[in-house]
Amino acid sequence: MEKIHQSILHWYHQNGRKNLPWRVLHDEYKKYANKNDLKKLQNIDIAYAVYISEIMLQQTQVKSVLQNYYFQFLVKFPSLKILAKASEDEVLKAWQGLGYYTRARNLHKSAKICVQKFNAQLPYDRRELQKLPGIGEYTAGAIACFGFLQTMAFVDANIKRVLSRFYSLQNPSLKLLTQKAEEFLNYDNAFDHNQALLDIGALVCLPKNAKCEFCPLESFCSGKNEYKKFNITKKIRYENIILKILIVQKNNKFLLIKSKEKLYFNLYNFLEYKNQKNAKFIGEFKHFYTKYKINVKVYFLKDDNFEDIKAKAFTYKDLEYIAISKLAVKAFDVLKKSAYAI
Ligand code: ADE
Repeated sequence: MEKIHQSILHWYHQNGRKNLPWRVLHDEYKKYANKNDLKKLQNIDIAYAVYISEIMLQQTQVKSVLQNYYFQFLVKFPSLKILAKASEDEVLKAWQGLGYYTRARNLHKSAKICVQKFNAQLPYDRRELQKLPGIGEYTAGAIACFGFLQTMAFVDANIKRVLSRFYSLQNPSLKLLTQKAEEFLNYDNAFDHNQALLDIGALVCLPKNAKCEFCPLESFCSGKNEYKKFNITKKIRYENIILKILIVQKNNKFLLIKSKEKLYFNLYNFLEYKNQKNAKFIGEFKHFYTKYKINVKVYFLKDDNFEDIKAKAFTYKDLEYIAISKLAVKAFDVLKKSAYAI
């Protein structure tokens, strides 16, 4: 096992994504923050910053998190206390475009709980972390290890694949995999070991075209010759749906409704097109969201007498400040490019 650990760490030092901002918090974060002129972040609560990264990375690619969300979110909400004080609308606005908005609502709820129960800190205990909304077994382990430097094993989808292949386990239970992860853990450097496993899963031990020749586990891995047998990712079944939406312009304002549907809960969306008279079809586009492939058809209606009790009117400028779904942003772009452009 010692040889395996050495091989993993050696590979990580040469090929790992060691400079991801949520990985350097403990050592050179001050230097890093200066370089990026993010002075506000110099005294950031490390566990909190790790927590935000882990929630963002749950369903979003590293690149997107880095480019558009991570720093922006931390600058806006530099502590649990400030996050707890914000309104849910503000938090959703900062999350706009990231998708899976339940994550943002849960972050906000957890921040409030931490202020009430834990003196505005994340709890150190993994089991306590797991009781917070939106924090599952993996995320609790990751915060404990990457945020609080605890020696902990945990498995996410990438680590599950690496370990299933390494031990040749077909459809292993979470319990078995967690047990294997504990056996496999490097107790002298859990932080780098776990980050390395995430990277091996993301960069080398790929679901379809595994690059075994570049893997530090190659000479130890029992599943390498038939790695596809040990895939555990579920195939997503996409559903094709058609959505017809209506952009209503009333007295130079636009009507939107705060969604009460699960997917976009509390985000603003345009209305639904239901053959309203005089509405004009102005274009369509495709939008992918969770398991849906949505064919969106956009209709436009200019009507100063339009009534909808649930709808609220926003000026063009207001739209910059409210949380609207990416789908609604795209629909609005259709309007901007149409003959009815504002
Ligand atoms: N995905 C989940 N956690 C991650 C991390 N710490 N680094 C990179 N990708 C991740």
